[in-house]
Amino acid sequence: MTQVIRTVAELRPLVRGWRAAGEIVGVVPTMGALHDGHLSLARRGKVECHRVITTIFVNPKQFTNPEDLKKYPRTEEADVALLNSVGVDAVFIPSPEEVYPDGYMTTVSVGGVSEPLEGRMRPGHFDGVATVVTKLFGMTEAHRGFFGQKDWQQLQVVLRLVRDLNLPVTVVGCETIREPDGLAMSSRNVRLTDQGRAVAHVLYTAITAAADDIRAGQSDRMAIREAAEKVRAAGFERVEYIELRDAETLMPSNDVRRPRRMLAAAWLDGVRLIDNIPV
Ligand code: PAJ
Repeated sequence: MTQVIRTVAELRPLVRGWRAAGEIVGVVPTMGALHDGHLSLARRGKVECHRVITTIFVNPKQFTNPEDLKKYPRTEEADVALLNSVGVDAVFIPSPEEVYPDGYMTTVSVGGVSEPLEGRMRPGHFDGVATVVTKLFGMTEAHRGFFGQKDWQQLQVVLRLVRDLNLPVTVVGCETIREPDGLAMSSRNVRLTDQGRAVAHVLYTAITAAADDIRAGQSDRMAIREAAEKVRAAGFERVEYIELRDAETLMPSNDVRRPRRMLAAAWLDGVRLIDNIPV
């Protein structure tokens, strides 16, 4: 049975016991409202580690829109049942006061890779992510941390922060899990209307076609413009960005010798959707 733990004081002796027995501990940080994307990380954790902890914490510091924080789905009971079904050893569900007690004063801020794209559209977001992920590593004392490529820029921020701060944790990036029509699974998808849900996959299919065109020799700019047109024509209210970037630094890149990534963010039904693919 998955143990439900709400305080660091309970978590420490559990993890210390595992570690003392020579077991490798993995952590899968989440904000709950779990779907197959999250569960794929937990399953990967089970393959690579003796013990897996999933954390569920809707981190107020990374929300730049109070309405989004308020509307964020919370489904704790169902989440715990799902984690139990994949054999997760413990789920850590701290309160906001447990994570940020009175007098809390520290922010972790990663330069460079945090700045463009999501960082520009959502100022302060990655400080919130970097801060809470650093804390979750400290609280769980995990050897390995599992993160989805769905949030590609976030994954690069976490990789950078672990290197820069010499944190004793190995970050594992896991593939994006998609619905059968190609839509990347996301806790926010439940907020789409039926009509929106029917066209939401166009964000993925449009960038996939653009990446194919670029590989076939079309200009980056033309391919991206066509993708943005397709997304708007499908009924998205707004395309925030579709960009081709260096996969690691997230800076503009036309160096075809380095891995590149196409990243996109767009609004549908008042819901902000993001996706990315290798080019
Ligand atoms: P959340 O959006 O709940 O996502 C938790 C983890 O699941 C992240 O690593 C994310 O990339 C991964 N994930 C989400 N959808 C996925 C999909 N379709 N396929 C594969 N992986 C997917 O990301 C966060 O929470 C937070 O920022 C967090 C890291 C927990 C810090 O608060």
